[in-house]
Amino acid sequence: MSAETSKPAINRRVASLSPSATLAITAKAKQLKNQGVDVVNFAGGEPDFDTPQPFKDAAIRALKEGMTRYTPTTGLPQLKEAIAEKLKRDNQLEYKPEQIVVTVGAKHAVFNAIQVLVDEGDEVIVPAPYWLSYPEMVKMAGGRNVFVTTSEEQRFKITPELLKRAISPASKVLILNSPSNPTGVVYSKEELTELTRIAVDHGIFVVSDEIYEKLIYGNTKHYAVAALEPRFKDSVITVNGLSKAYAMTGWRLGYFAAPLEIAKAASSLQDHQTSNVTSFAQPAAVEALRNGEGEAAKLREIFSNRRDLIISELRRIPQVRFVEPDGAFYVFVNITKSGLNSMEFSQRILEEVHIALIPGSPFGAEGYVRISFATSEREIVKGTERMRSWLKK
Ligand SMILES: Cc1ncc(COP(=O)(O)O)c(C=O)c1O
Repeated sequence: MSAETSKPAINRRVASLSPSATLAITAKAKQLKNQGVDVVNFAGGEPDFDTPQPFKDAAIRALKEGMTRYTPTTGLPQLKEAIAEKLKRDNQLEYKPEQIVVTVGAKHAVFNAIQVLVDEGDEVIVPAPYWLSYPEMVKMAGGRNVFVTTSEEQRFKITPELLKRAISPASKVLILNSPSNPTGVVYSKEELTELTRIAVDHGIFVVSDEIYEKLIYGNTKHYAVAALEPRFKDSVITVNGLSKAYAMTGWRLGYFAAPLEIAKAASSLQDHQTSNVTSFAQPAAVEALRNGEGEAAKLREIFSNRRDLIISELRRIPQVRFVEPDGAFYVFVNITKSGLNSMEFSQRILEEVHIALIPGSPFGAEGYVRISFATSEREIVKGTERMRSWLKK
C-alpha cells in the first residue's frame, strides 16, 4: 500500500504474476559457482555456443554502415522478406510481409499475440506441462488459463478428447508448442491436424510456438501447424525466432506470421510499446535466415549426439524414468520414486552434489524435473554419474 493514498502500489494484473520459482535455484547455482564449486549445469535454457561469426559480421557491417536509427516497427523490409522466404522454404507457408511482425524474441511474439487476441474473461487452453511463461502472459491479458493435464503415458500430448472437454463458449485460444519445452516431445502431422481442426471448428485461434523447430532428432519431422490445411492460416499464429536454432538468444530476435488483421493490431500495439527490434541486429537475422542452414545443421548434430548420450546415461539410473525427447534440448524426468517433490529434489541435488536442474512444478507438472542437455558431453556424463550415486543413497 502507498502510505498517502492507501491504494495498492502494484497493478492488479502484475501483482497476480508468479515470481519465477526457478530463480532461487539458478541464483543458488551461480552463487556456488562463484565460490569455486564445480556445479553441473542442467538448468540451461539456451544453446551453450557463441553466435556463428557470419551472423555477427552482418551486424558489425550494419553498424559500420551507420544502421543506428529506428526501423519500421514490425521490422526492416529485407528481414520480413527473409522471414517470408524461410516460411515458404521450410514450412510451405505463403505470407505477405505485412502479415509478419518482428519481435524482441519469440517470447515477445507470444506475449503480443496473446495481448491482441485475448480479452478480459476469455479462456486460453494451455496443455500442461507448459512453458512457464504462457500462463503469466494470459494473466497479463486478463484471460483465464484452462490447463489441460496430459500424462506421461500419452507422451505428454493433449489428445482430441482432452481438448474437446476443455472447450467452452469462452474459449478463445489454444496454445501448441511442438517441439515442447519442457518435455521435448514432438506432435505428429496427424495429431496436429486433428487438434487444429477441433480448435478451428470451434472458432478458437491457435498460437503455435515453433521456436524449437530446427532442434529435432532422428526421423522425427516438424510440421508447421498453419500449413496443414489451407483454412488453418486464418486461425493460426505461427511463432518462431532465431534464439535456439542459430545460437542467438541474446540478440532478441523473434517473429510471428498471422492473419492480416492480427498482424496489423500487433503492429499498433508494438508502436506504443517496444517499436522496432534493435536496428543492427536485423541484418544478422537476414544472414542467419538466408545462409545459416549449415550452422543450424551443425548445432542440431551436436544436440542430437548429446541427446543420445543423456538418454543412455539416464537409463542407467533405476530411480528415474522419462519419455525420450524427439526435439528441443530437455529431458523431463519422473522423480516420484525419490519420495521428494520436485522443488525439494532440485534444492537437495544442488546443495548435496551440485547439480542445477529445474523443478517440474512451475511447468505445471509435479513429480518431474527438467534436465537440459545444452551442455557438453563431459558435463552430461559427470552430472548423470553424480545423480546416479546420489539417488542410490
Ligand atoms: C517454448 C519457448 N517459447 C519461446 C521461448 C522464447 O524464446 P526467445 O529467446 O526467442 O524469446 C522459449 C525460450 O526459452 C521457449 O522455451
